[in-house]
Amino acid sequence: MNRRDFITLFGIGGIASSLPLAIAACSPEKSTTTISKDWQNIGTVAELDKDGQLLNENSPVGAVLVVGTSKAKNIVAVNPTCTHKGCKVDWRATENKFLCPCHQSAFAGDGKVLEGPATKPLATYAVKIEGDAVLAKPV
Ligand code: FES
Repeated sequence: MNRRDFITLFGIGGIASSLPLAIAACSPEKSTTTISKDWQNIGTVAELDKDGQLLNENSPVGAVLVVGTSKAKNIVAVNPTCTHKGCKVDWRATENKFLCPCHQSAFAGDGKVLEGPATKPLATYAVKIEGDAVLAKPV
């Protein structure tokens, strides 16, 4: 075997043997996340438990306000955008309701209208805790 044959044989062999590694290196990484499909990470359990509420205004499913604590097992999640004219509602834990600062519409914890002028309920989300993450998805 001369030098040219050696290089041709092992040069092609080297490329062929490293091709699977090159393809694997260029492939997109598989997600290792354990978050269920359609559920969005809104924040951490620590953030929720700190104030009894957690607001994520830029989640992929829209603005989400989660109220409650992980220990009390009373977590609910709504879109905090008031259905009257779009102001952001506040959670009043002592009164157990959402209150709009603009025209004082009030909503129950499940989003239903308690007092107008709003006539439509707040949009709600399914919410759950997985590990240290607070997750929500539209219902
Ligand atoms: S915008 Fe909320 S009551 Fe008017």
